Amino acid sequence: MNPLGDQVALITGGARGIGRSIALKLADDGADLALFDLSLEGLEETAALVRAKGRRALALPGNVTKAEDAKAAVERTLAELGRLDILVNNAGITRDNLLMRMREEDWDLVLDVNLKGTFLFSQAVVRHLLKQRSGRIISIASVVGVTGNAGQANYAASKGGIISLTYSLAKELGGRGVTVNAIAPGFIETEMTAALPAEVRKATSERIPAGRFGRPEDVAALAAFLAGPGAGYINGVVVRVDGGLSIA
Ligand code: NAI
Repeated sequence: MNPLGDQVALITGGARGIGRSIALKLADDGADLALFDLSLEGLEETAALVRAKGRRALALPGNVTKAEDAKAAVERTLAELGRLDILVNNAGITRDNLLMRMREEDWDLVLDVNLKGTFLFSQAVVRHLLKQRSGRIISIASVVGVTGNAGQANYAASKGGIISLTYSLAKELGGRGVTVNAIAPGFIETEMTAALPAEVRKATSERIPAGRFGRPEDVAALAAFLAGPGAGYINGVVVRVDGGLSIA
């Protein structure tokens, strides 16, 4: 099966966790991968796993908060892999604290990486996608961007921002063959959530109707669908992958 037909996907935060899982699923579906992250070591590991599946992989170290890194990543992808069809905005961080104790630099950093990084990469690919009159932009938001979360005002605001950025770009680009969608995961087993205290993990899993945290593969399956041929008429949606956690 090769539903992605040798297309090229650029994934930010591709060194581990959900980004790595999306890379491997898109490779299974026939894509070549450009992988962007702060961590060159993690990138090389993901790239080796992609190559082991018989697909090409390009490791692009850089910081999503830097416009010049985003532009250079897109240029190198086009120069070395020959095309670019899919952008997955996945790089993200948390710096949790109650508002009373939240440091201004932790507000700025989370907004910069999660929201501005998504803006910069979307802007860096858009000229190319519009010119070829096709493309997919998929951004990883979070259910807390919809519901809010005590202790995560900066993170929730950044993810809510990604959701309204998604809606706006879907309207702006939808007439030119480019779709823009977001995925809102709940709690997924990665290094990000491994840092949570045991009692918070237990209390959280008890609130999830599915009775367990999600796996990176649960998110990757949806990303692959949104990137694939079956999703061409889906534009401007935010799909929750949270085992039912956020049912109102
Ligand atoms: P992770 O912490 O395992 O991986 C994040 C990756 O992003 C790392 O490889 C890191 O080096 C990279 N990264 C961080 N800052 C960067 C920067 N400035 N420039 C380039 N790369 C950078 O996290 P995980 O869990 O895989 O999360 C991936 C995305 O999914 C994030 O946007 C996160 O907010 C989102 N998400 C995760 C959930 C979870 O429960 N794990 C739930 C909802 C959303």
